Amino acid sequence: MVRRAHAFRPATIGQVIPDPLSADCSPGPLPAGVVTAGRHGPLPSHLLPETAEVDGLGRLRIGGLDVLDLAEELGTPVFIYDEEHLRRRCRESRQAFGPRVAYASKAFLCRAMAALAHEEGCCVDVSTGGELAVALAAGVPAERLVLHGNNKSVAELEAALEAGVGRIVVDSFDEIDRLSVLSGRRNGAGRRPRVLVRVTPGVEAHTHEYVMTGQDDSKFGFGLASGDASRAVERLRHLSSGVQLVGVHAHIGSQIFALEAYERALSVLVPFFNQLELEELCIGGGLGVAYVTGETAPSITEWAQVLRQAAGAAGIADLNVLSAEPGRSIVATAGLTCYTAGTIKHLPGLRTYVSVDGGMSDNPRPVLYGSGYEAFLPREVTAPRPRVVTVVGKHCESGDVLVRDACVPEDLSVGDVLATPVTGAYGHSMASNYNKVPRPPVVFVKDGRRRVVVRRETYSDLLALEA
Ligand code: LLP
Repeated sequence: MVRRAHAFRPATIGQVIPDPLSADCSPGPLPAGVVTAGRHGPLPSHLLPETAEVDGLGRLRIGGLDVLDLAEELGTPVFIYDEEHLRRRCRESRQAFGPRVAYASKAFLCRAMAALAHEEGCCVDVSTGGELAVALAAGVPAERLVLHGNNKSVAELEAALEAGVGRIVVDSFDEIDRLSVLSGRRNGAGRRPRVLVRVTPGVEAHTHEYVMTGQDDSKFGFGLASGDASRAVERLRHLSSGVQLVGVHAHIGSQIFALEAYERALSVLVPFFNQLELEELCIGGGLGVAYVTGETAPSITEWAQVLRQAAGAAGIADLNVLSAEPGRSIVATAGLTCYTAGTIKHLPGLRTYVSVDGGMSDNPRPVLYGSGYEAFLPREVTAPRPRVVTVVGKHCESGDVLVRDACVPEDLSVGDVLATPVTGAYGHSMASNYNKVPRPPVVFVKDGRRRVVVRRETYSDLLALEA
């Protein structure tokens, strides 16, 4: 017998109930061993992918497959993605923002993901030549790609022009120079590149300083307040060999719950946009997702509603010009990582360390941003989690912590498969080979079938680049 583990619960707009101990992007270390009551319950179901179910034995199934069977068959660590969840979020984005909406592939990219986003009607935002190459290799038509980057090289711009990338988001005066030379050199070959000008609206979003991008002091875009944005527009409009300026772009940051930051951004962007008579105003990505107990986040649909309202209030003439680039909100909750607990070290009066077979190489977010995660056992998803342990990786440094104060079931033991939910965004994409640990595979599950879309790295792979 299989019963639904949860029904998806859309959150109230802007509703955040931050857990004081494990809120994502918390500024400092968490106090050890102290917990709040709610954290000891079973893993909240909204942190699991949408097709998650619990079988009669209490075991987790995703996409109709038993997660422990997958872990046994593919080994650990392994990234498991609910393909249906990915598809629904892409469809929701397309529905909310229309045909120009782009999936921000930096959150998680492989050919299967790029193809999926395209199949579900999204464009794909790429921010380097590498991401561009993967998206093209996936068969996404160049016309459906958007190229970003604050330091696009001549080679990257050339590759984009050669392929016929749909839109280029221009980020600096130097880039305008490069585009001018390159499009001159192409001497009318191909069509004029369509560009958006990236603007920093001077808005500080409430998020971790490393992922704030909308403030005046930023390496991204042209400042509105300084007048650089207007100067960039003038230069783009007068480029002799010609690019076609089609829009304005802004991205104020990532993991944003307080949607009023977007309202503030739009209140300055819309007047600027209105005087230019262009076809697209892209507000970037950044919608936050819930990572830990006590957090809830707005849905993509709710985010779009707030943006539309704010753009309307700021005097936009046509709401169809509004577009966006969600990344995390499409992929984060769709994915989870399964590890195997290898050693458990109890230090009386201090803490209990549970070491797993991955760590900061497959999820650097806790180390980089102090991000909080939950942990649970897929063999007993609905069990209470009264024990507090510190889940650490296998890397050679003390900072290699995955979950500082993880609540886990009482009977967690060596050999158990331990999972961290909501690892679908910026985990695999930021993974490294630190300590020569091979990167985990990625498996998509759907309707009782699984497909390995990225295989596990081998030791030969680790040596493959050496002369
Ligand atoms: N558009 C642009 C121009 C961006 O720079 C980003 C993310 C996005 C869209 C997508 O933002 P999202 O919807 O995923 O928040 N590594 C950090 C996040 C860095 C975000 C970089 N830019 C993390 O793990 O939290």
